[in-house]
Amino acid sequence: MKNFTSFADAGDYKALLQQALEIKANPYGYQHIGRNTTVGLIFFNPSLRTRLSSVKAAYNLGAQAWVLNAGADSWTLEMADGAVMNGGTQEHIKDAIAVMSQYCDVLGVRTFPTLKDKAEDYGEVVFNKILQYATVPVISLESATLHPLQSFADLITVAEYKQAERVKVVLTWAPHVRALPQCVPNSFADWFSEVSWVDFVITHPKGYELNERFTKGARIEYDQQKAFEGADFIYAKNWSSYHDYGQVLSQDPAWMVDTAHMARTNNARLLHCLPIRRNVEVSDAVLDSPNSLIIPEAGNRVFSMQTVLHELLS
Ligand code: CP
Repeated sequence: MKNFTSFADAGDYKALLQQALEIKANPYGYQHIGRNTTVGLIFFNPSLRTRLSSVKAAYNLGAQAWVLNAGADSWTLEMADGAVMNGGTQEHIKDAIAVMSQYCDVLGVRTFPTLKDKAEDYGEVVFNKILQYATVPVISLESATLHPLQSFADLITVAEYKQAERVKVVLTWAPHVRALPQCVPNSFADWFSEVSWVDFVITHPKGYELNERFTKGARIEYDQQKAFEGADFIYAKNWSSYHDYGQVLSQDPAWMVDTAHMARTNNARLLHCLPIRRNVEVSDAVLDSPNSLIIPEAGNRVFSMQTVLHELLS
């Protein structure tokens, strides 16, 4: 592993999953890997889980971590190549990333999409600049199109809780009050369409089709009730339209996951990456039920990051 930005970087996902389960069983047993190393974490956008789980993962591995909130804690960064910097920006991304690479052995970066410029977002223009200028391995803490650490944590969680050799996993669109990125569902599809023991189904209203680069021919079922039938895991998430880029096409409350939806499943477990708008995306009754995995799923963010750090620092 050179960088960790997508499912493709995971290599042998079965081996990586096994490594994660071993690390989780013995979280402080690999401190020789991280000793005398530093993990740098740059956030261009807010975070609770990614920030804290990454620091904890570094700590478990015997490494130190620093966190920078780009823009808020540092100089205002210029992103444009060849810019004449006589305006409001104070430091070029080229210099900032090269300098930060001097201060760490691996660099984690979060850069959300604009949701306005599809070509820039799906070209990963900002993240690719970071990959270009970094001189240490780079981990995506969520880019414009993908959130691989979340999907790896989701895979760990489903592997831990599955009750059968094969399981049906349903990614369902859910309503929201704002336009959200497609990163989490793109990434979930990128990973779960490849898992050999998963029957993967995506359900959403028409107009919310994801980029086929990530769904890779996964089954799409526009009837949410039908999609839920026999499901072992429900992954709820809102996203804005990819085709009508960044637009909110529906806020239909009938798509909120509630107990009536869950009653159609095979006693399914409920996942969501968090943060969640309670009683908009998923009802309290489902989120607070014994079938909800949202908290252990968030806990597994430590072990997805720790496993990736283990690979990159080894
Ligand atoms: N799920 C997730 O990435 O949470 P944060 O945005 O709080 O890091």
